[in-house]
Amino acid sequence: MSDQAEELARDRGRAQALLEEWIASEALRRHCRAVEIAMRAYAAELGEDGDAWGVVGLLHDFDWERHPTLEQHPRDGEPVLAALGYPDWFRRAILSHAEHMGVSRDTPMERHLFACDELSGFIHACALMRPDRLEGMEPRSVRKKLKDKRFAANVSRADITLGAEEIGRELDDHIAFVIAALTPHAAELGLSGP
Ligand SMILES: [Fe+2]
Ligand SMILES: [Fe+2]
Repeated sequence: MSDQAEELARDRGRAQALLEEWIASEALRRHCRAVEIAMRAYAAELGEDGDAWGVVGLLHDFDWERHPTLEQHPRDGEPVLAALGYPDWFRRAILSHAEHMGVSRDTPMERHLFACDELSGFIHACALMRPDRLEGMEPRSVRKKLKDKRFAANVSRADITLGAEEIGRELDDHIAFVIAALTPHAAELGLSGP
């Protein structure tokens, strides 16, 4: 693996520029940022490589606007990252976040990416329903919303449960961890209270 590829995999500025080039939607950019934040928090907790985990989180859905079907995403984004010089392990992690790709999640980074993706989207949806948004949100209320199948119906409950299992955390712990990670960034995520 070249040093250049390894540097690129941790270069937040280049990743942000790619995101801005490929994603116009504020909501999708915020989702990517939220997953980055959760990934950095877990990397810090586990003594892992925060820049690598963060940039993988930031770019996991970079191609979604141009490849908005399960057939295309992230399959067709992967060669774009390869052409830009992102290393194999980086692209493999991104492929593995999508259950339909059938790429096994073998590393802690891959397992945490999968675990943070759907859950951070779900927490975002829950926060939008509360006057105080993220502030003071409890895992208990998130659990309740998970049981309400009509709420944020596009979010896979199975993926959320499986994600927590794969990182070896109780679901409540995982929810609390992600809320705590996102809360200091609430304003940037459009989730601060009045
Ligand atoms: Fe995705
Ligand atoms: Fe995502």
